[in-house]
This record gives sequence, structure tokens and C-alpha cells, in this order.
Amino acid sequence: MFLQGKKIVLGVTGSIAAYKIPHFVRLLKKEGAEVKVILTNSAQDFVSPLALATVSKNNVLCTISNAAVWNNHVELGLWADVLLIAPCSANTLAKFANGICDNLLTAVYLSARCTVFIAPAMDEDMWKHPATRANIEKVMQYGNKIVPVGRGELASGLIGEGRMAEPEDMLYMLQDFFADTNKPLLGQKALVTAGPTYERLDPVRFIGNFSSGKMGIAIADSLANKGANVTLVLGPSAYSATNKNINTIHVESAKEMHTTCMELAEITHIMVLAAAVADYRPNEIANEKIKKKEDKLTITLTKTDDILADIGKIKQPWQTLVGFALETNNEIEAARKKLKDKKADIIILNSLKDAGAGFGHDTNKVTLLNKNGTTFAYELQSKKAVAEIIVNSIIKHMHDEKDI
Ligand code: CTP
Repeated sequence: MFLQGKKIVLGVTGSIAAYKIPHFVRLLKKEGAEVKVILTNSAQDFVSPLALATVSKNNVLCTISNAAVWNNHVELGLWADVLLIAPCSANTLAKFANGICDNLLTAVYLSARCTVFIAPAMDEDMWKHPATRANIEKVMQYGNKIVPVGRGELASGLIGEGRMAEPEDMLYMLQDFFADTNKPLLGQKALVTAGPTYERLDPVRFIGNFSSGKMGIAIADSLANKGANVTLVLGPSAYSATNKNINTIHVESAKEMHTTCMELAEITHIMVLAAAVADYRPNEIANEKIKKKEDKLTITLTKTDDILADIGKIKQPWQTLVGFALETNNEIEAARKKLKDKKADIIILNSLKDAGAGFGHDTNKVTLLNKNGTTFAYELQSKKAVAEIIVNSIIKHMHDEKDI
């Protein structure tokens, strides 16, 4: 039910195809949409306001004002999630293309901030005339979407191109449109790291940490649900991603995670590094099990490569880089330093001091910091809810919004 509760302003202009509109309005209503119909004067020759008021269960609007009522075109333009003009005559199309405002529909068109769909209907010669072609080009440049015309019998009796799209096709088109608006990350590639890393000491031992991977998996899930094509680079974790839009690459060590991420980084729009990567690994991995001998054993460690920092160095303006900071003291200051040093766009601060937050829990309590200096502390909530907050912040960042 992609149309449930969606607000549709339907503009009807003077064309014989208008006789199909009451049926179309019924289809929209059945899908749960709210519909307000605007009729131009000439549309009323083809379809009655009463029929449309009855099926839309709303007053049909015909003029900017009559004796006692002023129909607020600005309000209508803002109310709509979508403005669809169907059928759109050559005359109204020409008015749209040139900004002519001489009736309620053209005023609403100029006031609308939502997506505008235009479903033209006219005879083939009118449709193919260079003037119409130019008008179509112009409205497309304004960002309006043209609903493809059909081929078939036309009002003139001729067979050709120019028929308004069928009501069922317009319904599917709107369903697709709203399905996509629920998926703002469609076409975006995302990379998420999650879980711990294991740094081998010998064939049976490793240095690891208590990260469960749940936070990163929840973020990968939220990104995928919003349409992104997600690669999850997952360290050794008892948990896994079930979403079919997530491609999981299992890795063990910091080195493997680093190599995998660096290969993907150049072609990825959104990178969220949630893994608890080991900062140090043993200098060497013993081939045989290390035997118990002396009272004390010294293991020399080498710094691992920092994935977040290395991606930060090559990050392009079209990419969004998000890191985590797990701190125990001077949290905000330390997180802000991490944000700057590693050139991240957003840092998610986890404090180990907060009960119910951090490793292993199903809940988390985070503070988001972005490079514009905004800091926002969230309450303790499920990792799923925190993942939503993080992904929504990424989307805001991508749209250049200063707040997170
Ligand atoms: N990180 C990484 N590669 C590493 C170490 C850390 O990508 N080798 C990433 C983590 O995934 C996290 C961020 O860096 O997004 C910060 O991790 P954290 O352990 O808090 O910070 P460190 O940089 O390791 O610094 P410190 O341990 O001194 O706080």
C-alpha cells in the first residue's frame, strides 16, 4: 500500500480523456490515497465536478475564487505530495512551460513544491508539433515528469500517438514513485564494517575484543532498507545479516579488513566503520602452538593500519565517511579529535560509562558529532533505533543539511 495516506492533487484539463478520471480517482482512493481534484473550465465540458466530488470524497475546485470562497492555491501546492495533471491538454502544457497563470490549476502548478507529473493527451499532430515538443522539453527542465502517452484511437478518429496513459498505468507509476521515495538511498553503494577482529598469536590463540557486531549489522540493515546496495565487512561475529540487499564479506584480522575496505572505498558512496578493529597485532604469528615455559611471556605487537584514517585520506567530496569513537574519558573532546584527525564527516561516540551501551548489548546510547560542529546526544535505545538515527543523519549530511 504505497499510496496509503499520500496526498494527491489531480489537475484535470479539457480533453476527452477526462472521462476516465472518475475511474482513476476510484483506483487511487482504493489504495488509500487522499485526492483533491482541480478542474479547468474546459475540463467541465468532459467530466462533471459532481462525479469527481463523489468519488474523491472531497470538494472539487474549479476557480481561484467564487462569490464567497477563495481557494488557496499556495496551500494546495504545499499540501500535495504529488501534483498530477491528467489529462494535460496542449494548451495547459503551453501555460506550464511559459509560467502563464490564469486559472486555479496553473496557480497551483506554480506554487507546488512537490513532484509534478504531467500526463499529456492530444491528437498525434498536436503531440508531434515542434511547439509541443519544445514545451515538453521545458517542463522536463523544470523537473516535471512526463507520463508517456499511449498509441491508439484518438478523439479525431485517427490512430496514432497522443492518448493519455491508462488509469491503471498511472496508478502503477505513482506506486513506483512512492516506493522509491521510501528508499532515499536507491543507487547508493554503502560499506559497513562490523564486529571484532582476531589477531592470531599461534594456530590456536588470538587477541580479540568483545564486540558483537550487532550495531554494525543494524546499520547495514537500515541502509539496505533505505535502498542502498550494502557490503558488510564482518569480523568474527556470532551474528549475521539476513537482508538480501546486504553482501557480507567475512574477514578475520585487521589486515584483511583493511585490504577489503580499501578495495571497496573508491567506489562506495557511504562508509560506516563500526568495527572494533584491533589497534595492534602480534609482530609474528608462531607456526606452532606457543608452549608454556617461563613465568612471564612477552609478546611484541605492531600497530595495525587504521582503516578509517586511510579512507579519510582518499575520501572524495561525494563520499560520506562515518566512524565510531569508543571513549572512557574526555569523551566529546576525544571524539572531536578523532573526527578531525581521521577526516570523517560524522563520528558516533559511545561511552563505556553508560549502562546498557556499547559491546554486546541490544541497546546503545550515542552522541553524534559532525564536522560542522553540531553535537547531539541521544537517549539509550535499541541498536535498531540507533541505526535509524545514524542512517538518517547520513542522509541529512548527503543533502548538505547542517544539523544531524
Ligand atoms: N578504526 C579503524 N581501523 C583501525 C582502528 C580503528 O577503522 N585500525 C576505526 C573504528 O572502526 C572506529 C574508529 O576508527 O570507527 C575509532 O576507533 P577507536 O578504537 O575508538 O579509536 P582509535 O583510533 O583506535 O583510537 P584509541 O583506541 O586510541 O581511542
